[in-house]
Amino acid sequence: MVRTLPYADMDKILSISKRRGFVFQSSEIYGGLGSTWDYGPLGVELKRHVKEAWWRSVVLDRDDMVGLDAAILMHPQVWVASGHVENFTDPLVECRSCNRRFRLDHLAEAAGMELDQADSAKSLEVLACPECGGELGDPRQFNLMFKTFMGPVEDTASEVHLRPETAQGIFVNFANVVNSTRKKLPFGIAQIGKAFRNEITPGNFTFRTREFEQMEIEYFVKPGTDEEWLQRWVQSRLDWYVEYGIRRENLRLRQHGSDELAHYAKDCYDIEYRFPWGWAELEGIASRTDYDLRQHAEHSGQDLTYFDEETKSRYFPYVVEPSGGLDRGVLAFWLDSYDEEPDGEAVRVVCRLHRKLAPVTVAVLPLSRNAKLVPAAQDVHARLRRHFTTQYDDAQGIGRRYRRQDEIGTPYCVTVDFDSLEDHQVTIRDRDTMHQSRIPIDELVSVLQDKVEHGW
Ligand code: GAP
Repeated sequence: MVRTLPYADMDKILSISKRRGFVFQSSEIYGGLGSTWDYGPLGVELKRHVKEAWWRSVVLDRDDMVGLDAAILMHPQVWVASGHVENFTDPLVECRSCNRRFRLDHLAEAAGMELDQADSAKSLEVLACPECGGELGDPRQFNLMFKTFMGPVEDTASEVHLRPETAQGIFVNFANVVNSTRKKLPFGIAQIGKAFRNEITPGNFTFRTREFEQMEIEYFVKPGTDEEWLQRWVQSRLDWYVEYGIRRENLRLRQHGSDELAHYAKDCYDIEYRFPWGWAELEGIASRTDYDLRQHAEHSGQDLTYFDEETKSRYFPYVVEPSGGLDRGVLAFWLDSYDEEPDGEAVRVVCRLHRKLAPVTVAVLPLSRNAKLVPAAQDVHARLRRHFTTQYDDAQGIGRRYRRQDEIGTPYCVTVDFDSLEDHQVTIRDRDTMHQSRIPIDELVSVLQDKVEHGW
């Protein structure tokens, strides 16, 4: 398939997003709430399909993985032990003229400076406020964790954090999972869930927000095998994005420099996507050593070592952590699928989402609202909706309906026409080739299942 655009124009995606119901600004009728977004009827299906594709790939299709769904609110000691209370900070600078706040590392990067170079009084004179050119104040470390209170008393004793990563829910359940599943190393635990960060400079639509979802894996390995597993996971995660439709040339790997490694990491690779505003992180794959299990063992007083039957010894496993952002993944799959092609005098907008990710998998379109066609089309729809995410659309002419489905990425349209009433066949139209074929209604489910599984 020839793709005409290297990647989508952000404005076009934003327009489709609102008009077709992918993503809306949160609390829009009140003027919106900074950097929070709501997924609309199509967005929620796209997001659900991305989650399902990830879960299948990292849990259901593997023998060495299990899933978890831990609570967002956790014991306050979790964040002390994990190092987030002390270290989960960004360097913040404030403009002395307009009082806007910025992340110093972002300003440094834009100016082509290393962070430790930027974090000096001299450099601060060089770096100016990107909004008004004003002088910047001294940098200070700003902790990104949101706080709230548990119970009716609002004092420090009842303070809890909204989790800034799902990972810690996995670490604190390590012994529970080992004891209940008898899993042997190497094995991993996967989790999808909300995380919250009080970002200094959120932006770029759903790319950097204060409330977002992560898809995280903690993969526990024998110390000494961690480097090999890090490489295996980097390759496997990169392949997953390509398998589900992102063009390889729009993805790249970037190893972290020693000055940017998180406080728990010994090594880390980012999978970056070429967003319309430049290369930016989709997923990080970090080598976390035994940092977290050791910290939790020390702070909780519990034994979190693993008993190795082969060597008859106890040790803390090492951890490799592929940690992806669900919202960023959804945005990248969507952006990369956007396409336009000439259509006579007009332009055909086609969202070439992978058939398993598209919000609607099959659209059922009666040729018209004729009284005989409608019950037949509704019957076809009833058969299909039990197996696929479907949409029934009978508004306007068939050509316009095909275009509407193309714009939201529906891979298959099933048209019920007058011949269907006689020959009990319907037409399947493929989004990308626009090829049409007649299929007996009784075979429709299995033909479509085969197409979804194996391609056009
Ligand atoms: N447990 C490791 C961890 O949380 P991270 O690199 O801070 O690592 C992992 O976050 C992923 O979560 C990122 O690669 C990104 O996709 C996503 N993410 C992080 N902060 C985000 C934000 N403010 N908005 C949306 N996604 C975010």
